[in-house]
Amino acid sequence: MQRNKVLVIGSLNMDLVVQVPRVPRDGETVLGSEFHRYFGGKGANQAVAAARQGAPTIMAGRVGADAFGRDQIAALQAEGIDTSYLLVDAECSSGVAFIVIDTQGNNRIMVVPGANGAVSPQDMAALEPVMAECSCVVIQLEIPLAAVLAAVRAAHAQGAKVILNPAPAQPLPLDIYPCLTVITPNESEAQLLTGVAVSDLASARQAAQVLLDRGVLAVVITLGAQGAYGLTLSGEFHFPAHPVDVVDTVAAGDTFTGALAALIAEGRSLKEAVEYANAAAALAVTRRGAQPSVPTRAEVLRFLGK
Ligand code: RIB
Repeated sequence: MQRNKVLVIGSLNMDLVVQVPRVPRDGETVLGSEFHRYFGGKGANQAVAAARQGAPTIMAGRVGADAFGRDQIAALQAEGIDTSYLLVDAECSSGVAFIVIDTQGNNRIMVVPGANGAVSPQDMAALEPVMAECSCVVIQLEIPLAAVLAAVRAAHAQGAKVILNPAPAQPLPLDIYPCLTVITPNESEAQLLTGVAVSDLASARQAAQVLLDRGVLAVVITLGAQGAYGLTLSGEFHFPAHPVDVVDTVAAGDTFTGALAALIAEGRSLKEAVEYANAAAALAVTRRGAQPSVPTRAEVLRFLGK
């Protein structure tokens, strides 16, 4: 059986976004210029990114039994994503993210996990048969760590490629790294995981080497305005960032990881997948919102002139 599916395990949030001239100081009130509601959550964003690149995609996680949860499921289904492994949790509200964006496109995010916080290792055990049918299993750190670790171990045991986007960053047990096919931290996440302050290519290489030495097969560090850097046992590569007008960076990293997974699932090399994901993420920062900013495959190919 051909394994070309992508299973994304992770969070779903309703993003409540306020545009402000600048982020308020302690005790200060600042008048915002715009308010928007977008579908978000690192897991759901990555699932949308994989699906818009053409990968058959499954999303697993939890939403609350409320309007936000119902809307989230409907939005994923409209993308053609299989939601049959999403649990509706009657005990919790759906996840919500409060996002403040300034005029430079910088963001601050506060997340109330709600049902995302109830995702459990038992949920992951139930996913083992579907993991066995998937090429890639994609996981982030916006659900409880115990569930993440159970998912990584189970997906690895089922022979799937495991892609971990370690966001938001937290320390991980050393024995989990050999189960990872690809890890995709940004600069600050790479620093938290390795202790190496990542600011340029040389420090990215140093941090990536630490992760490689822990047993990950491939390390891809997203470097914002400096592009993306990759290191495997067979060598390194770097793709500079595309010069674009940055409007909103929310979900740029998610677009990168989801697009990367889609290309790996269809059998592209890691280097090809990173080049493509780097372009997808560049397009995402030119648009507002989390899921609305994720480009389709046709848009990425046009951007790359292919
Ligand atoms: O990575 C961006 C996402 O982080 C947002 O969509 C928000 O929901 C938070 O989870």
